[in-house]
Amino acid sequence: MNLVSNAYKYTPDGGNITIACQRREGAVWIAVHDTGVGMTETELAQLGRKFWRADNPHVTNEKGTGLGFAITKSLIELMDGALTVQSRPGEGSTFAFTLPVAS
Ligand SMILES: Nc1ncnc2c1ncn2[C@@H]1O[C@H](COP(=O)(O)OP(=O)(O)OP(=O)(O)O)[C@@H](O)[C@H]1O
Ligand SMILES: [Mg+2]
Repeated sequence: MNLVSNAYKYTPDGGNITIACQRREGAVWIAVHDTGVGMTETELAQLGRKFWRADNPHVTNEKGTGLGFAITKSLIELMDGALTVQSRPGEGSTFAFTLPVAS
């Protein structure tokens, strides 16, 4: 929900959001891709810090606390999953994570 709500909030009208999922060996892989505002390298380095929000009007014009992603990342890691982020400013972002399948 956090990744999809971020994709929706930080993608201007007319953009696209794609959600993909795959069963992988011992894990489920889920990716949320958007064609939104993206993040710079400097912003990506801050992502995950509690209460951090990019200093970008496309972001600050939307409501948010800057906590959702930090909580999401912690929950995934607590369940032995892993999360990756790829992003380019003005082009979009892809957030992907795996979660192990219970035996
Ligand atoms: N898909 C995305 N595209 C561009 N920037 C993003 C994206 N997802 C997260 N961000 C950046 O990371 C910041 C932190 O995200 P996070 O979800 O923690 O906070 P939020 O959306 O601002 O508020 P909330 O805690 O209500 O979710 C965002 O404010 C934004 O700057
Ligand atoms: Mg959010």
